[in-house]
Amino acid sequence: MGCFITFEGVEGCGKTTQIKLLAQHLTEQGHTVIVTREPGGCPIADQARAILLDANNRAMTPTTELLLYAAARAQHVQEIVKPALAAGKIVLCDRFTDATIAYQGYGRGLDPATIAYLNDLATGGLKPRLTVLLDCPVEVGLKRAFDRINGAAGAREERFELESVLFHRKVRDGYLKLAEDEPERFIIIDGSQGVRETEAAITAAVPARLAEG
Ligand code: TMP
Repeated sequence: MGCFITFEGVEGCGKTTQIKLLAQHLTEQGHTVIVTREPGGCPIADQARAILLDANNRAMTPTTELLLYAAARAQHVQEIVKPALAAGKIVLCDRFTDATIAYQGYGRGLDPATIAYLNDLATGGLKPRLTVLLDCPVEVGLKRAFDRINGAAGAREERFELESVLFHRKVRDGYLKLAEDEPERFIIIDGSQGVRETEAAITAAVPARLAEG
């Protein structure tokens, strides 16, 4: 059985950059690593991603949003994550079930029991071995996120970035609460530092925690 590690945090916390750097590091150490993401990670879930992140879909209800995340996750777990773990790989996933609790639960205020039920249904009970939470003030993250969106070609994936600062603060607080409740699974890293400092903190902390068994 492989090892499942997820990355979480508010918009612009640096997850996507850091996940690639950790993948390089682990590959150099001789591990077989795959990097994937949610929503997305396979063609069917990528189609759900396009709907979820399209800023023109302002009319989407919170329940529709929750069900689309769950649907995308069910496909991704079955098609990509479980086979890779069964083949003994390290799977690094950019967001997973904690994102649904933080965004749809703490952010949107949807019922935690419904979210827990759907997370369980979509994953078949699969849980990450470790979760790296890149924590940073929402203002710092949103600035980075808009710089990236403005510089990118193609569709603007900004439906969530356009939410209020208050929404993003609720998401950040939600993540911190999740980390407090499960200290054995979470590693909190300061995501407001520079790329190299954050990379050093992650490459020191992750192997150490995995070695703890
Ligand atoms: P990304 O920008 O990190 O790729 O994530 C896409 C967006 O989807 C981000 O704004 C967070 C949001 N999201 C949720 O609201 N719920 C979820 O379950 C997941 C996986 C992501």
